[in-house]
Amino acid sequence: MNGSKPVLGLVASAAGGVETWLRSGLAEPLAAAGWRLAITLTPTVARWLEPQLDALRALTDLPVRWTSRLPSEPKPHPVPDAFVFAPATLNSIAKLALGIGDNQALTVLGEALGRRAPMVVLAQVGPDQSHHPAYSGHLTVLRGAGVRVVSGGPEEVLKELAAVAPFVASDNKG
Ligand SMILES: Cc1cc2nc3c(=O)[nH]c(=O)nc-3n(C[C@H](O)[C@H](O)[C@H](O)COP(=O)(O)O)c2cc1C
Repeated sequence: MNGSKPVLGLVASAAGGVETWLRSGLAEPLAAAGWRLAITLTPTVARWLEPQLDALRALTDLPVRWTSRLPSEPKPHPVPDAFVFAPATLNSIAKLALGIGDNQALTVLGEALGRRAPMVVLAQVGPDQSHHPAYSGHLTVLRGAGVRVVSGGPEEVLKELAAVAPFVASDNKG
């Protein structure tokens, strides 16, 4: 690992199945593609992923985060060049669209949205959740800020990231 690689902010929230694919289906391919991973988890998914935190840590030289730093501490992550938020729950999508940063994951995502950083969001919401009256408005807010919202699985994220941040990956290959 070194500081010359492009940095990807990889953020995950607590949607079912995340424990089966986040590492092997997304984090490993991203690291293999040359991204330096700055991984931040919501508190709930940090609990779900507890048994595989060491395996996630092994993919990056940066700490895996889910809590805020103390004001006296330096920032543990550099500012990422691009972001992947996968999976994104109804809860965290709503918070991101509204600018609510009540945990470290939403704090970094909210700042990234403000900078209009390249961002791919893998929305994972069930049928009832997707019919929540505020949901479509939240997606409109995110898309209006340039966020690529996809559904499906990690392979859609990898495809979309190549479209949204090709300059980052190509600048740093080799
Ligand atoms: C087993 C399980 C699976 C879940 N799957 C989803 C899901 O696919 N999408 C979703 O929006 N919420 C899902 N939830 C609910 C979220 O985990 C819950 O709203 C949680 O508060 C989200 O927190 P976070 O967004 O901070 O990670 C699931 C909950 C459990 C227990």
